[in-house]
Amino acid sequence: MDILTFFPSWLFSTLPILFFSLILVYALRSKKTSKASPNLPPSPPRLPIIGNLHQVIGKNFHQILWKVSRKYGPIMTVHLGSTPYVIISSSELANQALKTHDQILCNRPRSKGFQRLTFDYMDVAFSPHAEQWKEMRKVLVNEFLGSKRSKLFKKVVDEEVKGMLDSFSSQHLNTTVNLDERLFHLVTDIVSRVAVGKSYREETFRGKKLKEMLDDLVISLCGSVSDIYPGRLGLILDEVLGFNRRLENTFSNFDAFLQMVLDDHIDHTEASNQEKDMIDACRSQLTTNELKALLMNVLNGAIDTTTTTMVWTMSEIIKNPRVMQKLQEEIRGCVGTKASVEESDIAQMSYLKLVVKEALRLHSTVPFLLTRECVKHCQIGGYDIYPGTRVLINAWGIGRDPKVWTENASVFNPERLETAELDRSEMIPFGGGRRACPASSVATQVVEYTIANLFYSFDWQLPSGMENQELDMEEVGSLIVVRKTPLCLVPMKHDWQD
Ligand code: HEM
Repeated sequence: MDILTFFPSWLFSTLPILFFSLILVYALRSKKTSKASPNLPPSPPRLPIIGNLHQVIGKNFHQILWKVSRKYGPIMTVHLGSTPYVIISSSELANQALKTHDQILCNRPRSKGFQRLTFDYMDVAFSPHAEQWKEMRKVLVNEFLGSKRSKLFKKVVDEEVKGMLDSFSSQHLNTTVNLDERLFHLVTDIVSRVAVGKSYREETFRGKKLKEMLDDLVISLCGSVSDIYPGRLGLILDEVLGFNRRLENTFSNFDAFLQMVLDDHIDHTEASNQEKDMIDACRSQLTTNELKALLMNVLNGAIDTTTTTMVWTMSEIIKNPRVMQKLQEEIRGCVGTKASVEESDIAQMSYLKLVVKEALRLHSTVPFLLTRECVKHCQIGGYDIYPGTRVLINAWGIGRDPKVWTENASVFNPERLETAELDRSEMIPFGGGRRACPASSVATQVVEYTIANLFYSFDWQLPSGMENQELDMEEVGSLIVVRKTPLCLVPMKHDWQD
């Protein structure tokens, strides 16, 4: 028996077909497999268990990740504990995330701290993308930021800014003023009066002032061990390291404070429509917990961010005497001999607007936009992003990217923004897409108005003969980046004869 009789004859005729079919199946399968194998963003080497934590802990998170991105590219993955975070560090990819894939990257990750402090996700800033978020955002925009409240806003901003200028004239001329502190007072009083009818800044509640309560809130919102080690290990460490106890204390103090504020309002005389504060306006629309969650967002989201933006803007102006002189000439030229700047004067101050914008470019007070979570597979920069992935966008780094802003990116130069195409999506201090800051225009107006008044009424000097250029600009903070040392300046009466 030879080999030809051992195999049936049909095999010989089908063999070539079988052979080519196998090759085809293999080719198709390997194509499919390569499509299915994910193309993940590059990642710096990491250690077991802690991931890349050792590279970021104790450092300025935004600065260190910006440096790492110079090596690994504008999209990379870093592991904080056992949780991967995709870090985006260019305006081009940020636009893909915030515009092209806005609908896919509009969720916020769940977290124990967020859940507790938002009264179980009743708020706007930290809640998942859902109907509740949509409704609450609408209420915030209509009842706090929108035209219904604009008359009250204008009146309060006017009174508080003038009060601050008067206090400088009467008590602080030629003496050193801590502007971090003074501007915090200003913004707290403005926000509190519009939101809750009066300022609780000086009152002590359970042994704490409002500032301390807000600082506690920020610490708890920064996250816990279980955020980066989901599962039993994280839960145990949160308990052992005291996070749960601190979170409960922070929540309980803030909840009781907000309850007191609401109780104070029970006797609020029926305010006229124009004078209604946010509580008056929201009471009939929201449950108590919804109202508290919204007030938490307003107090926590508005005060530190706006104060810090004012402080950085003033710091940059002081550090750059050329800009200060040009700005003061513009402001004084527009206002003439009036006692102070009026809101209507601001429209003519084009250089002031560039100065504030340039300060926002260099000092995104919220250096990473609030964490996004992907809800559906998408690709950014050609890399796969899967549902559940957390995405951090480095707004601070994007504002300083030499590819966009040239090698002088870190120099404060408002004139660079005169070129219209450089002023839009290349900087994102207020984020973007549907989760962008809803207060960008109100906050910018308050900053512009305050800065205009401060530089109209006074000339400013650094204390003890320090040269302006010597002003220290070191940063600290992770959720919000503030000056390491407070901004202390001396207001001096302007000599109008000059
Ligand atoms: C100069 C001042 C401010 C800066 C720089 C700032 C910045 C930001 C940034 C970067 C975000 C995250 C956006 C994103 O994820 O894309 C944000 C969100 C938010 N901000 Fe502001 N903000 C400021 C003032 C305010 C004020 C005055 C309020 C008043 C209520 C406010 C309320 C909020 C809220 C509620 C969100 C969450 C929006 C959402 O998730 O839908 N912010 N802000």
